[in-house]
Amino acid sequence: MQAMKSLFVCSFLFSFLSISTTTTLDTIIPSRSMRDGETLVSAGGSFQLGFFSPGSSKGRYLGIWYSVDIETVVWVANRETPLGDSSGVLKVTEQGVLVLLNSSNSMKWSSNSSRTAGNPVSQLMDSGNLVVKDGNETNPDNFLWQSFDYPCDTFLPEMKLGWDSSTGFDRYVSSWKSTDDPAPGEFSVRMDRRGLPQVVIMKGAKITARVGSWNGLYFAAYPYPPQTRENQILGRKFVLDKDEVYYEYRLLNTSIFSRNMVNPSGIVQRFTWVYQRHSWELSYTLQADRCENYALCGAYTSCSINVSPICACLKGFVPKSPKDWNSGYWSDGCVRKIPLACSYGDDFLNYTGVKLPDTSSSWFDKSRSLKECKGLCLKNCSCTAYANLDIREGGTGCLLWFGNLTDIRQFTSGVGQDLYVRLAASELDHIERKSKFNKKKLPGILISSAVLLVGTLLIGLILYIRKKKLRNQGVRSIDCTKHYLGEDREDME
Ligand SMILES: *[C@@H]1O[C@H](CO)[C@@H](O)[C@H](O)[C@H]1NC(C)=O
Ligand SMILES: *[C@@H]1O[C@H](CO)[C@@H](O)[C@H](O)[C@H]1NC(C)=O
Ligand SMILES: *[C@@H]1O[C@H](CO)[C@@H](O)[C@H](O)[C@H]1NC(C)=O
Ligand SMILES: *[C@@H]1O[C@H](CO)[C@@H](O)[C@H](O)[C@H]1NC(C)=O
Ligand SMILES: *[C@@H]1O[C@H](CO)[C@@H](O)[C@H](O)[C@H]1NC(C)=O
Ligand SMILES: *[C@@H]1O[C@H](CO)[C@@H](O)[C@H](O)[C@H]1NC(C)=O
Ligand SMILES: *[C@@H]1O[C@H](CO)[C@@H](O)[C@H](O)[C@H]1NC(C)=O
Repeated sequence: MQAMKSLFVCSFLFSFLSISTTTTLDTIIPSRSMRDGETLVSAGGSFQLGFFSPGSSKGRYLGIWYSVDIETVVWVANRETPLGDSSGVLKVTEQGVLVLLNSSNSMKWSSNSSRTAGNPVSQLMDSGNLVVKDGNETNPDNFLWQSFDYPCDTFLPEMKLGWDSSTGFDRYVSSWKSTDDPAPGEFSVRMDRRGLPQVVIMKGAKITARVGSWNGLYFAAYPYPPQTRENQILGRKFVLDKDEVYYEYRLLNTSIFSRNMVNPSGIVQRFTWVYQRHSWELSYTLQADRCENYALCGAYTSCSINVSPICACLKGFVPKSPKDWNSGYWSDGCVRKIPLACSYGDDFLNYTGVKLPDTSSSWFDKSRSLKECKGLCLKNCSCTAYANLDIREGGTGCLLWFGNLTDIRQFTSGVGQDLYVRLAASELDHIERKSKFNKKKLPGILISSAVLLVGTLLIGLILYIRKKKLRNQGVRSIDCTKHYLGEDREDME
Protein backbone atom coordinates (compact mmCIF):
# COMPACT_ATOMS: atom_id res chain seq x y z
CA MET A 1 0.00 0.00 0.00
CA GLN A 2 2.74 2.35 1.13
CA ALA A 3 4.80 1.45 -1.93
CA MET A 4 1.82 2.04 -4.16
CA LYS A 5 1.27 5.38 -2.54
CA SER A 6 4.83 6.50 -3.08
CA LEU A 7 4.74 5.12 -6.57
CA PHE A 8 1.63 7.16 -7.15
CA VAL A 9 3.23 10.26 -5.67
CA CYS A 10 6.31 9.69 -7.79
CA SER A 11 4.36 9.19 -10.97
CA PHE A 12 2.25 12.18 -10.06
CA LEU A 13 5.37 14.26 -9.53
CA PHE A 14 6.81 12.86 -12.70
CA SER A 15 3.73 13.67 -14.74
CA PHE A 16 3.63 17.09 -13.14
CA LEU A 17 7.26 17.64 -14.09
CA SER A 18 6.73 16.29 -17.58
CA ILE A 19 3.67 18.54 -17.98
CA SER A 20 5.62 21.51 -16.75
CA THR A 21 8.49 20.79 -19.11
CA THR A 22 6.32 20.17 -22.14
CA THR A 23 3.36 22.48 -21.79
CA THR A 24 4.32 25.60 -19.87
CA LEU A 25 4.17 27.56 -23.09
CA ASP A 26 1.90 30.55 -22.89
CA THR A 27 2.22 31.64 -26.53
CA ILE A 28 1.63 30.45 -30.04
CA ILE A 29 3.32 31.90 -33.09
CA PRO A 30 2.77 31.30 -36.84
CA SER A 31 5.29 28.44 -36.81
CA ARG A 32 3.88 26.81 -33.66
CA SER A 33 0.15 26.07 -33.43
CA MET A 34 -1.90 24.32 -30.75
CA ARG A 35 -3.88 21.10 -31.31
CA ASP A 36 -6.76 19.57 -29.35
CA GLY A 37 -5.16 17.84 -26.36
CA GLU A 38 -2.51 20.51 -25.89
CA THR A 39 -2.89 23.52 -23.62
CA LEU A 40 -1.31 26.90 -23.08
CA VAL A 41 -0.67 27.82 -19.44
CA SER A 42 -0.38 31.48 -18.45
CA ALA A 43 3.00 32.55 -17.07
CA GLY A 44 1.79 32.77 -13.45
CA GLY A 45 -0.10 29.48 -13.80
CA SER A 46 -3.58 30.91 -13.15
CA PHE A 47 -5.30 30.07 -16.44
CA GLN A 48 -5.15 27.51 -19.24
CA LEU A 49 -6.27 27.60 -22.86
CA GLY A 50 -7.35 24.39 -24.54
CA PHE A 51 -10.14 22.32 -26.06
CA PHE A 52 -13.06 20.97 -24.04
CA SER A 53 -16.60 19.59 -24.24
CA PRO A 54 -19.09 21.23 -21.82
CA GLY A 55 -21.51 19.09 -19.81
CA SER A 56 -22.97 16.29 -21.89
CA SER A 57 -22.07 17.96 -25.20
CA LYS A 58 -19.95 16.03 -27.69
CA GLY A 59 -18.83 19.20 -29.50
CA ARG A 60 -15.31 20.50 -29.03
CA TYR A 61 -14.80 24.11 -28.05
CA LEU A 62 -11.71 26.27 -27.61
CA GLY A 63 -11.83 27.82 -24.15
CA ILE A 64 -10.01 29.31 -21.17
CA TRP A 65 -10.37 27.86 -17.68
CA TYR A 66 -8.83 28.14 -14.22
CA SER A 67 -5.84 25.90 -13.49
CA VAL A 68 -7.24 25.25 -9.98
CA ASP A 69 -10.56 24.10 -11.45
CA ILE A 70 -10.52 23.00 -15.08
CA GLU A 71 -14.32 22.62 -14.97
CA THR A 72 -14.73 26.38 -14.62
CA VAL A 73 -14.54 27.75 -18.15
CA VAL A 74 -14.39 31.54 -18.26
CA TRP A 75 -14.26 32.14 -22.01
CA VAL A 76 -15.15 30.27 -25.20
CA ALA A 77 -13.96 31.18 -28.69
CA ASN A 78 -16.24 29.20 -31.02
CA ARG A 79 -19.41 29.59 -28.92
CA GLU A 80 -21.74 28.85 -31.83
CA THR A 81 -19.53 26.68 -34.01
CA PRO A 82 -18.34 23.58 -32.13
CA LEU A 83 -15.96 21.18 -33.82
CA GLY A 84 -17.36 17.71 -34.43
CA ASP A 85 -14.22 15.89 -33.33
CA SER A 86 -10.86 16.41 -31.63
CA SER A 87 -9.00 17.33 -34.77
CA GLY A 88 -9.15 21.07 -34.09
CA VAL A 89 -6.08 23.26 -34.32
CA LEU A 90 -5.52 26.88 -33.27
CA LYS A 91 -3.14 28.96 -35.36
CA VAL A 92 -2.03 32.55 -35.53
CA THR A 93 -1.57 33.74 -39.11
CA GLU A 94 1.34 35.83 -40.40
CA GLN A 95 -1.04 38.82 -40.33
CA GLY A 96 -1.88 38.29 -36.65
CA VAL A 97 -5.30 36.66 -36.87
CA LEU A 98 -6.19 33.70 -34.64
CA VAL A 99 -7.92 30.95 -36.60
CA LEU A 100 -9.52 27.73 -35.43
CA LEU A 101 -9.48 25.05 -38.11
CA ASN A 102 -10.97 21.57 -38.35
CA SER A 103 -9.27 18.60 -39.98
CA SER A 104 -10.47 19.64 -43.45
CA ASN A 105 -8.91 23.07 -42.87
CA SER A 106 -12.30 24.73 -42.65
CA MET A 107 -12.27 27.85 -40.47
CA LYS A 108 -14.67 27.38 -37.51
CA TRP A 109 -13.78 30.62 -35.76
CA SER A 110 -11.37 33.54 -36.08
CA SER A 111 -10.34 36.70 -34.28
CA ASN A 112 -10.27 39.88 -36.31
CA SER A 113 -8.25 43.02 -36.23
CA SER A 114 -7.98 46.18 -38.24
CA ARG A 115 -4.19 46.07 -37.94
CA THR A 116 -1.49 43.58 -38.87
CA ALA A 117 1.67 42.61 -37.02
CA GLY A 118 5.19 42.04 -38.30
CA ASN A 119 5.93 39.44 -35.66
CA PRO A 120 2.55 38.16 -34.41
CA VAL A 121 2.39 36.41 -31.05
CA SER A 122 -0.73 35.14 -29.30
CA GLN A 123 -0.29 34.95 -25.56
CA LEU A 124 -2.47 33.76 -22.68
CA MET A 125 -1.98 36.37 -19.96
CA ASP A 126 -2.18 35.54 -16.25
CA SER A 127 -5.39 37.59 -16.04
CA GLY A 128 -7.10 35.04 -18.30
CA ASN A 129 -6.91 37.37 -21.31
CA LEU A 130 -5.91 35.79 -24.62
CA VAL A 131 -4.24 38.47 -26.73
CA VAL A 132 -2.67 38.88 -30.14
CA LYS A 133 0.20 41.33 -30.25
CA ASP A 134 3.29 42.26 -32.14
CA GLY A 135 6.49 40.74 -30.72
CA ASN A 136 7.23 41.77 -27.16
CA GLU A 137 4.60 44.49 -27.02
CA THR A 138 3.39 45.01 -23.45
CA ASN A 139 1.06 48.00 -23.78
CA PRO A 140 -2.54 46.68 -23.93
CA ASP A 141 -3.57 49.70 -26.03
CA ASN A 142 -1.38 48.33 -28.82
CA PHE A 143 -2.67 44.75 -28.76
CA LEU A 144 -4.19 43.69 -32.08
CA TRP A 145 -6.97 41.69 -30.44
CA GLN A 146 -7.93 40.47 -26.96
CA SER A 147 -10.52 37.99 -25.68
CA PHE A 148 -11.41 40.44 -22.86
CA ASP A 149 -13.16 42.55 -25.52
CA TYR A 150 -15.53 39.64 -26.21
CA PRO A 151 -16.69 38.37 -22.80
CA CYS A 152 -18.87 35.27 -22.61
CA ASP A 153 -20.77 34.53 -19.39
CA THR A 154 -17.95 35.49 -17.03
CA PHE A 155 -16.86 38.99 -16.03
CA LEU A 156 -13.28 38.69 -14.80
CA PRO A 157 -11.11 41.20 -12.94
CA GLU A 158 -9.55 43.71 -15.40
CA MET A 159 -12.29 43.22 -18.00
CA LYS A 160 -14.33 46.26 -19.01
CA LEU A 161 -18.12 46.33 -19.07
CA GLY A 162 -19.27 49.19 -21.27
CA TRP A 163 -18.73 51.33 -24.31
CA ASP A 164 -16.05 53.00 -26.39
CA SER A 165 -17.95 56.12 -27.37
CA SER A 166 -15.80 56.94 -30.40
CA THR A 167 -16.13 53.52 -32.05
CA GLY A 168 -19.50 52.52 -30.56
CA PHE A 169 -17.95 49.24 -29.40
CA ASP A 170 -19.95 47.62 -26.60
CA ARG A 171 -18.45 45.08 -24.20
CA TYR A 172 -21.12 43.05 -22.42
CA VAL A 173 -21.53 39.68 -20.75
CA SER A 174 -23.96 37.10 -22.15
CA SER A 175 -25.22 33.89 -20.60
CA TRP A 176 -24.70 30.44 -22.08
CA LYS A 177 -27.80 28.82 -23.63
CA SER A 178 -27.44 25.96 -21.14
CA THR A 179 -24.68 24.29 -19.18
CA ASP A 180 -24.17 22.05 -22.23
CA ASP A 181 -24.18 24.85 -24.79
CA PRO A 182 -21.97 27.95 -24.59
CA ALA A 183 -23.79 29.71 -27.46
CA PRO A 184 -25.21 33.12 -26.39
CA GLY A 185 -28.36 32.61 -24.33
CA GLU A 186 -31.25 34.95 -23.52
CA PHE A 187 -29.59 36.97 -20.79
CA SER A 188 -26.99 39.69 -20.87
CA VAL A 189 -25.41 42.11 -18.43
CA ARG A 190 -24.61 45.44 -20.01
CA MET A 191 -24.13 49.15 -19.64
CA ASP A 192 -27.31 51.03 -20.56
CA ARG A 193 -26.14 54.38 -21.95
CA ARG A 194 -29.48 56.20 -21.85
CA GLY A 195 -29.39 59.10 -19.37
CA LEU A 196 -26.88 58.49 -16.60
CA PRO A 197 -25.31 55.14 -17.60
CA GLN A 198 -26.38 52.19 -15.46
CA VAL A 199 -25.65 48.48 -15.40
CA VAL A 200 -28.67 46.32 -16.21
CA ILE A 201 -29.45 42.64 -16.60
CA MET A 202 -31.57 41.96 -19.67
CA LYS A 203 -33.60 39.11 -21.08
CA GLY A 204 -33.54 39.84 -24.78
CA ALA A 205 -34.47 43.52 -25.01
CA LYS A 206 -36.21 43.64 -21.61
CA ILE A 207 -34.55 44.73 -18.37
CA THR A 208 -35.02 42.10 -15.64
CA ALA A 209 -32.88 43.67 -12.92
CA ARG A 210 -30.99 46.87 -12.44
CA VAL A 211 -27.60 47.10 -10.75
CA GLY A 212 -28.05 50.81 -11.33
CA SER A 213 -25.93 53.90 -11.63
CA TRP A 214 -22.59 54.52 -9.91
CA ASN A 215 -22.37 57.18 -7.19
CA GLY A 216 -18.61 57.34 -6.74
CA LEU A 217 -18.60 54.59 -4.13
CA TYR A 218 -21.01 51.90 -5.24
CA PHE A 219 -23.84 50.90 -7.58
CA ALA A 220 -27.34 52.05 -6.56
CA ALA A 221 -28.53 48.50 -5.88
CA TYR A 222 -25.51 47.41 -3.83
CA PRO A 223 -24.59 50.02 -1.25
CA TYR A 224 -21.29 48.68 0.03
CA PRO A 225 -19.75 51.18 2.44
CA PRO A 226 -15.98 51.55 1.85
CA GLN A 227 -15.01 49.50 4.90
CA THR A 228 -16.89 46.32 3.93
CA ARG A 229 -15.04 43.16 2.95
CA GLU A 230 -16.30 43.62 -0.60
CA ASN A 231 -14.23 46.76 -0.94
CA GLN A 232 -11.26 45.35 0.91
CA ILE A 233 -10.67 42.66 -1.70
CA LEU A 234 -11.98 44.48 -4.77
CA GLY A 235 -10.71 47.70 -6.30
CA ARG A 236 -13.67 49.07 -8.28
CA LYS A 237 -13.59 51.68 -10.99
CA PHE A 238 -16.30 53.40 -12.99
CA VAL A 239 -15.13 55.56 -15.89
CA LEU A 240 -17.47 58.05 -17.51
CA ASP A 241 -15.99 60.60 -19.90
CA LYS A 242 -16.44 61.65 -23.50
CA ASP A 243 -14.41 58.70 -24.85
CA GLU A 244 -15.75 55.81 -22.83
CA VAL A 245 -18.08 54.59 -20.14
CA TYR A 246 -17.24 51.33 -18.39
CA TYR A 247 -17.02 49.47 -15.12
CA GLU A 248 -14.00 47.47 -14.09
CA TYR A 249 -12.81 45.75 -10.92
CA ARG A 250 -9.51 44.36 -9.75
CA LEU A 251 -8.55 41.98 -7.00
CA LEU A 252 -6.37 43.79 -4.49
CA ASN A 253 -4.78 40.47 -3.49
CA THR A 254 -3.65 38.67 -6.63
CA SER A 255 -3.56 35.27 -4.97
CA ILE A 256 -7.36 35.35 -4.69
CA PHE A 257 -9.57 34.10 -7.54
CA SER A 258 -12.96 35.71 -7.85
CA ARG A 259 -15.35 35.88 -10.78
CA ASN A 260 -18.75 37.29 -11.69
CA MET A 261 -20.97 35.30 -13.99
CA VAL A 262 -24.48 35.26 -15.39
CA ASN A 263 -25.92 31.75 -15.48
CA PRO A 264 -28.32 30.41 -18.16
CA SER A 265 -31.31 31.52 -15.98
CA GLY A 266 -30.10 35.12 -15.86
CA ILE A 267 -28.92 35.08 -12.24
CA VAL A 268 -25.73 37.06 -11.65
CA GLN A 269 -23.43 35.70 -8.96
CA ARG A 270 -19.93 36.22 -7.69
CA PHE A 271 -17.79 33.26 -6.64
CA THR A 272 -14.51 33.20 -4.75
CA TRP A 273 -12.11 30.27 -4.74
CA VAL A 274 -11.50 28.74 -1.33
CA TYR A 275 -8.14 26.95 -1.38
CA GLN A 276 -8.78 25.00 1.83
CA ARG A 277 -11.99 23.45 0.52
CA HIS A 278 -10.86 23.37 -3.08
CA SER A 279 -14.18 24.78 -4.23
CA TRP A 280 -15.96 27.97 -5.19
CA GLU A 281 -17.85 29.83 -2.50
CA LEU A 282 -20.85 31.95 -3.47
CA SER A 283 -19.95 35.52 -2.43
CA TYR A 284 -23.23 37.08 -3.49
CA THR A 285 -26.25 36.81 -5.75
CA LEU A 286 -27.35 40.00 -7.44
CA GLN A 287 -31.04 39.09 -7.55
CA ALA A 288 -31.13 38.10 -3.88
CA ASP A 289 -34.75 39.06 -3.15
CA ARG A 290 -38.02 40.06 -4.82
CA CYS A 291 -37.29 43.78 -4.68
CA GLU A 292 -34.50 43.15 -7.21
CA ASN A 293 -37.07 42.30 -9.91
CA TYR A 294 -37.00 45.33 -12.16
CA ALA A 295 -39.93 47.73 -11.55
CA LEU A 296 -41.88 45.05 -9.66
CA CYS A 297 -43.96 47.74 -7.94
CA GLY A 298 -44.47 50.01 -10.97
CA ALA A 299 -44.02 53.77 -11.23
CA TYR A 300 -43.81 56.11 -8.19
CA THR A 301 -43.48 53.32 -5.67
CA SER A 302 -40.85 52.00 -3.37
CA CYS A 303 -40.07 48.36 -2.62
CA SER A 304 -39.15 47.36 0.91
CA ILE A 305 -38.34 43.72 1.56
CA ASN A 306 -38.96 43.83 5.32
CA VAL A 307 -42.48 45.21 5.05
CA SER A 308 -45.68 43.46 4.00
CA PRO A 309 -46.80 44.12 1.32
CA ILE A 310 -43.37 44.90 -0.09
CA CYS A 311 -44.70 47.58 -2.47
CA ALA A 312 -45.92 50.99 -1.33
CA CYS A 313 -46.81 54.20 -3.17
CA LEU A 314 -44.48 57.14 -2.61
CA LYS A 315 -45.98 59.77 -0.29
CA GLY A 316 -48.50 61.91 -2.15
CA PHE A 317 -49.30 59.09 -4.61
CA VAL A 318 -52.12 56.54 -4.71
CA PRO A 319 -52.43 53.20 -6.58
CA LYS A 320 -53.35 53.69 -10.23
CA SER A 321 -55.52 50.55 -10.24
CA PRO A 322 -56.54 50.07 -6.59
CA LYS A 323 -58.23 46.72 -7.23
CA ASP A 324 -55.15 45.18 -8.87
CA TRP A 325 -52.90 46.83 -6.31
CA ASN A 326 -54.80 45.38 -3.39
CA SER A 327 -54.73 41.91 -4.93
CA GLY A 328 -50.93 42.04 -5.14
CA TYR A 329 -50.53 43.04 -8.79
CA TRP A 330 -48.41 46.17 -8.42
CA SER A 331 -47.02 46.76 -11.92
CA ASP A 332 -49.41 49.61 -12.74
CA GLY A 333 -47.80 51.57 -9.96
CA CYS A 334 -49.11 54.78 -8.48
CA VAL A 335 -50.25 58.23 -9.62
CA ARG A 336 -50.22 61.68 -8.03
CA LYS A 337 -53.05 62.60 -5.68
CA ILE A 338 -52.59 66.26 -6.65
CA PRO A 339 -51.10 67.21 -10.05
CA LEU A 340 -47.88 69.24 -10.06
CA ALA A 341 -48.51 72.95 -9.93
CA CYS A 342 -45.35 73.52 -12.04
CA SER A 343 -44.56 77.22 -12.17
CA TYR A 344 -47.20 77.96 -9.53
CA GLY A 345 -45.35 76.18 -6.76
CA ASP A 346 -43.92 72.73 -6.15
CA ASP A 347 -41.43 71.47 -3.61
CA PHE A 348 -39.54 68.28 -2.81
CA LEU A 349 -39.90 65.50 -0.29
CA ASN A 350 -36.62 64.10 1.03
CA TYR A 351 -36.27 60.30 0.96
CA THR A 352 -33.18 58.81 2.60
CA GLY A 353 -31.63 55.35 2.34
CA VAL A 354 -33.00 54.49 -1.11
CA LYS A 355 -31.84 52.79 -4.30
CA LEU A 356 -32.10 55.63 -6.81
CA PRO A 357 -34.70 55.12 -9.57
CA ASP A 358 -34.02 54.02 -13.15
CA THR A 359 -31.82 56.68 -14.73
CA SER A 360 -32.65 55.89 -18.37
CA SER A 361 -34.58 59.17 -18.65
CA SER A 362 -32.29 61.26 -16.48
CA TRP A 363 -29.90 64.13 -17.05
CA PHE A 364 -26.73 64.89 -15.13
CA ASP A 365 -24.04 67.51 -14.63
CA LYS A 366 -20.90 66.90 -12.59
CA SER A 367 -20.35 70.57 -11.76
CA ARG A 368 -23.74 71.64 -10.36
CA SER A 369 -24.43 71.77 -6.64
CA LEU A 370 -27.43 70.19 -4.97
CA LYS A 371 -29.02 73.61 -4.55
CA GLU A 372 -28.59 74.47 -8.22
CA CYS A 373 -29.94 71.02 -9.00
CA LYS A 374 -33.15 71.77 -7.13
CA GLY A 375 -33.51 75.06 -9.02
CA LEU A 376 -32.97 73.31 -12.37
CA CYS A 377 -35.60 70.72 -11.55
CA LEU A 378 -38.16 73.32 -10.50
CA LYS A 379 -37.64 75.15 -13.80
CA ASN A 380 -38.82 72.19 -15.92
CA CYS A 381 -42.28 70.81 -15.33
CA SER A 382 -41.34 67.31 -16.52
CA CYS A 383 -38.58 67.04 -13.93
CA THR A 384 -39.80 64.70 -11.18
CA ALA A 385 -36.84 64.29 -8.83
CA TYR A 386 -33.23 65.20 -8.17
CA ALA A 387 -30.24 63.81 -6.27
CA ASN A 388 -26.49 64.17 -5.90
CA LEU A 389 -24.54 62.55 -8.73
CA ASP A 390 -21.62 61.59 -6.49
CA ILE A 391 -22.03 60.98 -2.78
CA ARG A 392 -18.35 61.40 -1.88
CA GLU A 393 -17.14 64.54 -0.09
CA GLY A 394 -20.59 65.34 1.27
CA GLY A 395 -22.16 65.02 -2.18
CA THR A 396 -21.41 66.69 -5.51
CA GLY A 397 -22.99 67.00 -8.93
CA CYS A 398 -26.58 67.00 -10.07
CA LEU A 399 -28.82 64.22 -11.30
CA LEU A 400 -32.34 65.01 -12.56
CA TRP A 401 -35.15 62.64 -13.51
CA PHE A 402 -37.68 63.33 -16.24
CA GLY A 403 -40.87 61.29 -16.43
CA ASN A 404 -41.99 58.62 -14.02
CA LEU A 405 -39.80 57.22 -11.24
CA THR A 406 -39.36 53.46 -11.32
CA ASP A 407 -37.49 50.76 -9.44
CA ILE A 408 -36.92 52.65 -6.19
CA ARG A 409 -36.02 50.51 -3.23
CA GLN A 410 -36.01 51.45 0.44
CA PHE A 411 -33.00 50.08 2.31
CA THR A 412 -33.30 49.42 6.01
CA SER A 413 -29.76 49.19 7.32
CA GLY A 414 -28.77 52.85 7.11
CA VAL A 415 -27.29 52.51 3.60
CA GLY A 416 -28.48 54.07 0.37
CA GLN A 417 -28.83 57.59 -0.95
CA ASP A 418 -30.97 60.71 -0.58
CA LEU A 419 -33.61 61.31 -3.25
CA TYR A 420 -35.72 64.47 -3.53
CA VAL A 421 -39.12 63.77 -5.08
CA ARG A 422 -41.16 66.64 -6.55
CA LEU A 423 -44.67 67.23 -5.21
CA ALA A 424 -47.22 70.00 -5.46
CA ALA A 425 -46.63 72.38 -2.55
CA SER A 426 -50.20 71.82 -1.33
CA GLU A 427 -49.58 68.05 -1.20
CA LEU A 428 -46.32 68.62 0.64
CA ASP A 429 -48.08 70.89 3.17
CA HIS A 430 -50.61 68.14 3.73
CA ILE A 431 -47.89 65.50 4.22
CA GLU A 432 -45.87 67.76 6.50
CA ARG A 433 -48.91 68.68 8.56
CA LYS A 434 -49.69 65.02 8.91
CA SER A 435 -46.12 64.13 9.85
CA LYS A 436 -45.99 67.12 12.22
CA PHE A 437 -49.14 65.78 13.80
CA ASN A 438 -47.56 62.38 14.03
CA LYS A 439 -44.06 63.35 14.99
CA LYS A 440 -44.16 66.81 16.55
CA LYS A 441 -47.76 67.25 17.76
CA LEU A 442 -47.92 63.82 19.33
CA PRO A 443 -45.25 64.51 21.98
CA GLY A 444 -46.93 67.91 22.47
CA ILE A 445 -50.26 66.28 23.06
CA LEU A 446 -48.66 63.78 25.41
CA ILE A 447 -46.96 66.56 27.37
CA SER A 448 -50.08 68.68 27.61
CA SER A 449 -52.14 65.66 28.68
CA ALA A 450 -49.51 64.87 31.27
CA VAL A 451 -49.54 68.48 32.45
CA LEU A 452 -53.32 68.37 32.58
CA LEU A 453 -53.26 65.12 34.51
CA VAL A 454 -50.64 66.32 36.99
CA GLY A 455 -52.48 69.62 37.27
CA THR A 456 -55.75 67.89 37.98
CA LEU A 457 -54.07 65.72 40.57
CA LEU A 458 -52.38 68.72 42.15
CA ILE A 459 -55.60 70.72 42.29
CA GLY A 460 -57.35 67.67 43.68
CA LEU A 461 -54.63 67.31 46.30
CA ILE A 462 -54.74 71.01 47.16
CA LEU A 463 -58.51 70.89 47.40
CA TYR A 464 -58.28 67.77 49.54
CA ILE A 465 -55.68 69.28 51.85
CA ARG A 466 -57.63 72.50 52.01
CA LYS A 467 -60.81 70.66 52.70
CA LYS A 468 -59.09 68.61 55.33
CA LYS A 469 -57.50 71.71 56.81
CA LEU A 470 -60.82 73.51 56.70
CA ARG A 471 -62.49 70.56 58.21
CA ASN A 472 -59.82 70.34 60.86
CA GLN A 473 -60.16 74.04 61.40
CA GLY A 474 -63.91 73.61 61.33
CA VAL A 475 -63.66 70.67 63.61
CA ARG A 476 -61.35 72.58 65.78
CA SER A 477 -63.67 75.52 65.82
CA ILE A 478 -66.51 73.16 66.34
CA ASP A 479 -64.31 71.58 68.87
CA CYS A 480 -63.86 74.94 70.36
CA THR A 481 -67.47 75.52 70.33
CA LYS A 482 -67.97 71.95 71.28
CA HIS A 483 -65.55 72.37 73.90
CA TYR A 484 -68.15 74.46 75.21
CA LEU A 485 -71.00 72.43 73.90
CA GLY A 486 -69.76 69.00 74.51
CA GLU A 487 -66.62 66.89 73.83
CA ASP A 488 -68.17 63.75 72.36
CA ARG A 489 -69.41 65.16 69.09
CA GLU A 490 -66.35 64.69 66.90
CA ASP A 491 -65.95 61.07 67.86
CA MET A 492 -69.50 60.47 66.89
CA GLU A 493 -68.87 62.01 63.47
C1 LIG B 1 -15.04 21.09 -41.17
O1 LIG B 1 -15.99 22.14 -41.21
C2 LIG B 1 -16.71 22.22 -42.39
C3 LIG B 1 -17.57 23.46 -42.34
O2 LIG B 1 -18.25 23.56 -41.12
C4 LIG B 1 -17.53 20.95 -42.59
O3 LIG B 1 -18.24 21.01 -43.81
C5 LIG B 1 -16.60 19.74 -42.58
O4 LIG B 1 -17.35 18.56 -42.63
C6 LIG B 1 -15.74 19.75 -41.33
N1 LIG B 1 -14.78 18.68 -41.39
C7 LIG B 1 -14.69 17.78 -40.41
C8 LIG B 1 -13.64 16.72 -40.59
O5 LIG B 1 -15.40 17.79 -39.42
C1 LIG C 1 -14.70 42.18 -36.56
O1 LIG C 1 -15.75 41.55 -37.29
C2 LIG C 1 -17.00 42.14 -37.14
C3 LIG C 1 -18.01 41.36 -37.93
O2 LIG C 1 -17.63 40.06 -38.10
C4 LIG C 1 -16.97 43.57 -37.60
O3 LIG C 1 -18.22 44.17 -37.38
C5 LIG C 1 -15.90 44.32 -36.84
O4 LIG C 1 -15.80 45.63 -37.34
C6 LIG C 1 -14.58 43.62 -36.97
N1 LIG C 1 -13.61 44.30 -36.14
C7 LIG C 1 -12.46 44.73 -36.59
C8 LIG C 1 -11.57 45.39 -35.60
O5 LIG C 1 -12.15 44.62 -37.74
C1 LIG D 1 11.50 39.50 -26.96
O1 LIG D 1 12.23 39.46 -25.75
C2 LIG D 1 13.18 38.40 -25.71
C3 LIG D 1 13.80 38.36 -24.32
O2 LIG D 1 13.57 39.54 -23.63
C4 LIG D 1 14.22 38.58 -26.80
O3 LIG D 1 15.14 37.51 -26.76
C5 LIG D 1 13.52 38.63 -28.13
O4 LIG D 1 14.45 38.90 -29.15
C6 LIG D 1 12.43 39.68 -28.14
N1 LIG D 1 11.69 39.58 -29.36
C7 LIG D 1 11.32 40.65 -30.07
C8 LIG D 1 10.57 40.36 -31.30
O5 LIG D 1 11.56 41.78 -29.71
C1 LIG E 1 -3.76 37.17 -0.06
O1 LIG E 1 -4.57 36.01 -0.03
C2 LIG E 1 -3.89 34.85 0.41
C3 LIG E 1 -4.84 33.67 0.22
O2 LIG E 1 -6.08 33.92 0.77
C4 LIG E 1 -3.46 35.05 1.84
O3 LIG E 1 -2.77 33.91 2.30
C5 LIG E 1 -2.56 36.28 1.91
O4 LIG E 1 -2.23 36.54 3.24
C6 LIG E 1 -3.25 37.49 1.31
N1 LIG E 1 -2.30 38.57 1.24
C7 LIG E 1 -2.61 39.79 1.65
C8 LIG E 1 -1.55 40.83 1.48
O5 LIG E 1 -3.68 40.08 2.14
C1 LIG F 1 -42.92 54.97 -17.02
O1 LIG F 1 -42.17 55.52 -18.05
C2 LIG F 1 -41.70 54.61 -18.99
C3 LIG F 1 -40.81 55.34 -19.95
O2 LIG F 1 -41.30 56.59 -20.25
C4 LIG F 1 -42.86 53.92 -19.65
O3 LIG F 1 -42.39 52.95 -20.55
C5 LIG F 1 -43.71 53.26 -18.62
O4 LIG F 1 -44.85 52.70 -19.22
C6 LIG F 1 -44.12 54.24 -17.57
N1 LIG F 1 -44.81 53.54 -16.53
C7 LIG F 1 -45.95 53.96 -16.05
C8 LIG F 1 -46.56 53.09 -15.02
O5 LIG F 1 -46.50 54.97 -16.42
C1 LIG G 1 -32.39 64.91 3.64
O1 LIG G 1 -32.31 64.03 4.75
C2 LIG G 1 -31.00 63.63 5.10
C3 LIG G 1 -31.10 62.64 6.23
O2 LIG G 1 -31.97 63.06 7.23
C4 LIG G 1 -30.17 64.85 5.48
O3 LIG G 1 -28.86 64.44 5.76
C5 LIG G 1 -30.19 65.84 4.34
O4 LIG G 1 -29.50 67.02 4.71
C6 LIG G 1 -31.62 66.19 3.95
N1 LIG G 1 -31.58 67.07 2.82
C7 LIG G 1 -32.16 68.25 2.81
C8 LIG G 1 -32.00 69.08 1.59
O5 LIG G 1 -32.82 68.67 3.76
C1 LIG H 1 -37.62 69.89 -19.91
O1 LIG H 1 -36.79 68.74 -20.00
C2 LIG H 1 -37.09 67.90 -21.10
C3 LIG H 1 -36.22 66.66 -20.97
O2 LIG H 1 -34.88 67.00 -20.82
C4 LIG H 1 -36.84 68.67 -22.37
O3 LIG H 1 -37.16 67.85 -23.48
C5 LIG H 1 -37.69 69.91 -22.39
O4 LIG H 1 -37.39 70.68 -23.51
C6 LIG H 1 -37.46 70.74 -21.13
N1 LIG H 1 -38.40 71.82 -21.08
C7 LIG H 1 -38.03 73.06 -20.81
C8 LIG H 1 -39.12 74.08 -20.77
O5 LIG H 1 -36.86 73.36 -20.59
